Amino acid sequence: MRVLVAYASKNGSTEEIARRIAEEFERKGLDVDCLEAGTIRHLDAYSAVVLGSAVYAKRWRRSARGFLRRHQRALSALPWWVFSSGPVGEPKPGDARADSWLEPPKTIARVERLGARTHVVFGGRVPVQPHNFVERAMVRNTPEEFADRRDWDEIKGWAADIAAQLVAGNGAAAASSPA
Ligand SMILES: Cc1cc2nc3c(=O)[nH]c(=O)nc-3n(C[C@H](O)[C@H](O)[C@H](O)COP(=O)(O)O)c2cc1C
Repeated sequence: MRVLVAYASKNGSTEEIARRIAEEFERKGLDVDCLEAGTIRHLDAYSAVVLGSAVYAKRWRRSARGFLRRHQRALSALPWWVFSSGPVGEPKPGDARADSWLEPPKTIARVERLGARTHVVFGGRVPVQPHNFVERAMVRNTPEEFADRRDWDEIKGWAADIAAQLVAGNGAAAASSPA
């Protein structure tokens, strides 16, 4: 079984999450390609897909949105899983504004329509080498202890759970019954 982990990242932290997921799949004996979402022409070679995108201004990266559009038919016939990566800074549970920061609603509605098995939001990391004024301000205004909110145990656990389903052969059977 060959699994695709496709990612869309601007400043590298989402790519690192994707690579960590791919590593976990390999550890569980799966064949994996870990590729930037915009580089993938077709999904014929894959039995399952994980798609992940960084979130900027409440939107997925363009290449992840393009991936969804281009491959929607193939995706609806495959078991597939989705993650977004974004939240940085101090967590503020119960804050409606903070909740709306978490995910792009239209894209997630589309992901659900296309039958993704689960969608999770992982914490993100502020840019290490900020490109512009907004990114520099974000780095400046984020306390250091909340600058990288990626939880590697959580990411590994999510990947291990998917790998277990695929190894057990549950992936294909459940492809038509989204969570
Ligand atoms: C200008 C800017 C806008 C952002 N907007 C959002 C957002 O709307 N929602 C969110 O959850 N995270 C947002 N973030 C945080 C990023 O998603 C986070 O830094 C992520 O880890 C970046 O991933 P990348 O390193 O793969 O590009 C924003 C970050 C920047 C710099």
